[in-house]
Formats: sequence, C-alpha cells, structure tokens
Amino acid sequence: MTDTEMVIYERRAVRKYKDIPVERALIEQLLDAGRMAPSAMNRQPWRFYILNDKETIRAFSKEIAVIAFKDVLHSGKAGLRQAKKIVSDLLSFSHGIDLHQLKDPVFYGAPVVIFITAPRGNEWAPLDIGMCSQNIMLAAKSHGLDSCPVGFGKYVEKTKIFTRLQVPPSEQVQLAIILGYGDETPEVHKRIQDNILFID
Ligand SMILES: Cc1cc2nc3c(=O)[nH]c(=O)nc-3n(C[C@H](O)[C@H](O)[C@H](O)COP(=O)(O)O)c2cc1C
Repeated sequence: MTDTEMVIYERRAVRKYKDIPVERALIEQLLDAGRMAPSAMNRQPWRFYILNDKETIRAFSKEIAVIAFKDVLHSGKAGLRQAKKIVSDLLSFSHGIDLHQLKDPVFYGAPVVIFITAPRGNEWAPLDIGMCSQNIMLAAKSHGLDSCPVGFGKYVEKTKIFTRLQVPPSEQVQLAIILGYGDETPEVHKRIQDNILFID
C-alpha cells in the first residue's frame, strides 16, 4: 500500500477524544489541505467556522441536540436507536451530570469543531464540501489526529446560538467535522463489495 492508501484505510469515524487541544497552526494546515480539494467550476465554495474552546463546543452541542431531537421526533427520519441516544445524552446534560465525562451529545468531546458552509443555491456544494471534508480528515489522520463528519451539525442553523458563528444569511451550513486526538480505535465497518460493474 502507498502511504496515501494507508491513511485512507486507517481513518475511522472516531467518537471519543482525549482532552488534548489541537494547535491552531495545525488546524490551519489541515484547512489548507481542505482548500486543495477539487470543486465544480473551481468555485471553491467552502468557508470554515471553527470552534476550539471546550465550553463553547459543549454549549453548541447541547443546543443542536435539542433541535435535532425535536426534528427527529417530528420527521420520523432517524431510527429510534439514534433518537434514544440523543435523548439519553441530553438528559445527562439537563440534570447537570455528564455521564460521559468528556463526551457531548453531538461533538463527542472533540476539541475542534469545523462548520463548513457554502453559498446557498450552489447545486454542487454538497459534493465540493464532501471532497473538501475528506481532504481535511485524511490530512488530519496523516498527522495522528482522528475525526468524524457530523451531519447533525447542520442543525446549528436552527439554534439560538447560531449567531455566534457569524455565518451570513447567504451561506448554508453543509457539514460539521470534529477533530482531535482519538481515545478509541473503532472496528472497521465492513465495506459492501457487490457494487462494481465493469462494462466491457
Ligand atoms: C455526511 C456524513 C454525515 C455524518 N454524520 C454523522 C453524525 O451526525 N454523527 C456521527 O456520529 N457520525 C456521523 N457520520 C459518520 C458515519 O456514521 C461514519 O462515517 C460511518 O458509520 C462509517 O464509519 P467509518 O467512517 O469509521 O468508516 C457521518 C458521515 C457522513 C459522511
């Protein structure tokens, strides 16, 4: 395997982090890797809004969890297990007992959260942001950092705390990524294999 492939195969969605901050210079280096992603018509639609203060991250996490759970309940989109997990984490917050110590319901106690936005109405933005995010996560892995994409981060737009991010109305939050020094090594999820068709 090449070094690049090694990094690709070693990356996992990590949901438990050590209480170790990530240097700002390193975060900036990872964002630079994100900027190197391809983008439709070279629009480079991404903008990055970064949280790296523990208390701030927890505050965002709690607000997002409340909104996400309400949405989950009303839409019936997510499975009950996922909804229950959110509720149980949320309860631990509202009772002032953080059962998970360093964890939080949405960002899992990670020391860095990156919200990535793109201009509204850009039909290619989700693909561009996906590529940009993967660059960031692979670059992070190559530096010994772990990560997880957090789709639930999109709910931030519906929270009261959203204004703190200073995202202008012309932009839409596409995804959040968490980064940090992982404190778990999750099993590899087996990949579906019967999805390739060579046309001769
Ligand atoms: C667009 C997207 C959104 C995701 N949202 C979440 C999320 O909100 N919470 C979470 O814990 N994991 C989230 N994940 C992580 C996936 O659950 C994870 O990548 C998948 O289970 C495969 O595991 P692996 O990344 O370790 O291979 C998301 C992944 C993607 C690509």
